[in-house]
This record gives sequence, C-alpha cells and structure tokens, in this order.
Amino acid sequence: MKILAIMGTPRKRGNTYKVTRKVEENMKQLCNVEFEYLFLKDVDLKMCSGCFNCVSKDKELCPLKDDKAKIENKMMEADGIIFATPVYCENVSGLMKNFIDRFAYVFHRPQFFDQKAMILATSAGGGLKDTLDYLKKLQIWGFGTPIELSVIMPPWPRSDALQKKNKKSIVKASEEFYRKLHEERQPPNFMQYMHFKFIKETSKLGYLPADLEFYKDKDEYFYDTKISLSKKIFAPIIMKFAFFIMKDIGPKEN
Ligand SMILES: Cc1cc2nc3c(=O)[nH]c(=O)nc-3n(C[C@H](O)[C@H](O)[C@H](O)COP(=O)(O)O)c2cc1C
Repeated sequence: MKILAIMGTPRKRGNTYKVTRKVEENMKQLCNVEFEYLFLKDVDLKMCSGCFNCVSKDKELCPLKDDKAKIENKMMEADGIIFATPVYCENVSGLMKNFIDRFAYVFHRPQFFDQKAMILATSAGGGLKDTLDYLKKLQIWGFGTPIELSVIMPPWPRSDALQKKNKKSIVKASEEFYRKLHEERQPPNFMQYMHFKFIKETSKLGYLPADLEFYKDKDEYFYDTKISLSKKIFAPIIMKFAFFIMKDIGPKEN
C-alpha cells in the first residue's frame, strides 16, 4: 500500500510532520505500507492565476508550467492520501490552500475514486474544527468520507494529559485509516451524491464545456454503484429548493 502525505507545513521537522510520522509508525505496525512525503514548500507549484481554464475548458489549458501534473500522477498512483496542514489564522496554511486551488477542476470532475483520504491538522488549540470542516470538502474529489485527525500542539510545553490524549487520537485515526484503506469502493455519501446531481444539472446549461462533456454519459453516478432510495428521493427535492433559492444569482438559462 502506498500513502502519499501532502504536507502543507513550511516546517520540515515541525508539529504537523511529527504527527504524520506517528501515523506512519502506527500504520506500519498494522500493515505493509510505504509512505512518501510531499512537502508543498519544496515543489514547483505556482500560485493559481485565476484564469478558470481548468474548470471551464480543460486542465491541460492551465497556463502555469510547473510540477502540478507530476503531483496529480503521484496522487493517482497512491492508495491513500494524507492532507496535512498546520492551522494558520483559523484555517489551512497558504501552501495547502494554493494546492487545493490548483486542483479546483476536481471539485467539478472528481477522479480520486480509488484513493482513501485522511485529513490532518495541528494547532495551538484553535481553528481545528474550521480547518477540518474545510478539508472535509475534499471528499468531493472522489475519496468519500475521510478519516479525520486533529492534534493540539502548542508552541509551549504540553501537559501529560494532553500528550496522552494526542497519542490516543493518533492511534485511533491510524487504525481507522488502515481499515478504510482496505474497504471496497463505497456508494457515495449524501454530500457526494448531491454534488454529483448538482454539477450534472448545471453542466447542462453549457457554460462549462468541460463539465458538459464529462457528465453527458454519467446517469446515476460516476461509477456503477447502488444509490439508496432515500438519496434518490431527497436529493432532487433539496436540489429543486437550492435552484429556487439561487434563481436570482444562478446562471441564466441558455
Ligand atoms: C502564522 C501562524 C498562524 C497560526 N495560527 C494559529 C491559529 O489560528 N490557531 C491556533 O490554534 N494556532 C495557530 N498557530 C499555531 C500552529 O498551528 C501550531 O503550532 C502548529 O502545530 C504548527 O505546525 P508546524 O510545526 O507543522 O508548522 C499558528 C502558527 C503560525 C506560524
């Protein structure tokens, strides 16, 4: 099993790295697993220039020439991906945010269905919920429900109780990630299914040609799976409601 740890911290031996290494140690006790650390600070990943080409037309039309495609290939080859970031001013680090921006098109056209995700954040105590809530949105990329790990690592001495609590959460999350990695592809959770329905429906308006092409032969979902009756019933109702609310701000029909 291959795990790619995408490191949003600029500190190579900092707290976020230490916690991720603990996850590695724990997982290595459970199975044969290989870890690769990709420090965003060391790769050539330029700032998104906001042209929107990747979302509307084709990711190949991104004008930035750098390591993005190489990073994407590494992600595709991994069985599991850890998105690890320190909390900076209540949310993910700038490095992590730019990384996510550069993959904006994956929110429209998910592709990581064979990978499982862990989202990991460290902080001095604040911002962990907002940070993990934000990273949780990456489930849309295809991963499904991620394993969550938040660890309080203040830049001052930690009490024994905190260290014990941290150790327990790291062990628990590592075990959950191990189990997740051995799961078959799952049916989508409600958020993933709603997202599918919403982007498929809006793609028909034709404003985003890449989406139109991508969704035209996808009827029920991105892959063959069983969609529960409750999702089939409630998703269209919620969508109708969302379209109603958005009627003044959404795109005009062609
Ligand atoms: C620029 C900056 C902003 C930070 N913002 C927060 C914050 O909003 N809330 C918090 O609890 N800790 C904050 N911290 C503390 C770090 O999140 C925490 O020490 C983290 O574990 C550092 O991880 P690292 O060693 O991998 O960089 C901040 C640290 C820095 C350097």
